Amino acid sequence: MRKPIVAGNWKMNRTSDEAETLARGVVDAVLGADGVDVVVCPPHTALERVSGAVKGSSVGLGAQNMHWEAEGAYTGEVSGAMLLTCGCEYVILGHSERRQYFGETDQTVNKRLKTALDVGLKPIVCVGETLEERKSEVTDQVVRKQVTGGLEGILANEAQTLVLAYEPVWAIGTGLTATPDQADAVHGMIRQVLVDLYDETVAQSVRIQYGGSMKPDNAADLLGQPNIDGGLIGGAALDADSFAAIVKAAI
Ligand code: 13P
Repeated sequence: MRKPIVAGNWKMNRTSDEAETLARGVVDAVLGADGVDVVVCPPHTALERVSGAVKGSSVGLGAQNMHWEAEGAYTGEVSGAMLLTCGCEYVILGHSERRQYFGETDQTVNKRLKTALDVGLKPIVCVGETLEERKSEVTDQVVRKQVTGGLEGILANEAQTLVLAYEPVWAIGTGLTATPDQADAVHGMIRQVLVDLYDETVAQSVRIQYGGSMKPDNAADLLGQPNIDGGLIGGAALDADSFAAIVKAAI
């Protein structure tokens, strides 16, 4: 059985002070929620403060992006080692906002992924189609290409440890959610891609989160689907109680 994993992607929200307060709220609100991995991903500037706030709790820390090089002249970027020294265990890679606004491609996601695995971070690799792509009925092709390109050259033993996040772009921050059936169909398709790329063992080991307007009132239905192993939460993760309600729905 795959252990559910619920992660909060705080995006570009919360100063360090605010982030520490929110993190303390999350730690309290998820107390006793065993059987699910809980992760918070604040902005880079708040990582150290949040690391202190979650220390000794069951809440893990993740970053929202990292560069593939170890160091150098890459203004505005941070390395995997820098994230590790801030206390990070996880890193989100290839979020659709990075693809949409910052030119991220399957190739750059792949480079970041290789480095993240090399330095010992646990990657959460995001994929998902746009509204136009869904309307054109090319969702499966688009997502298949993102998974295949993103994971190129990744060995089976590494792939097995990955978390993938299916986030339909049209559902992010819009209040529109994929129906549980729609989401589960894509999750199942992603699992089949993993069978094709690797084998059944890898496909059954990888945890696939759903992301896109997941809220306390729709979480249980989505998380109840056989191929949905958790959530990557944006807006609702900025409120400790809402986030904790989703965590509890995953148990
Ligand atoms: P929302 O939950 O705000 O739709 O954001 C989802 C997301 O992008 C998480 O990475």
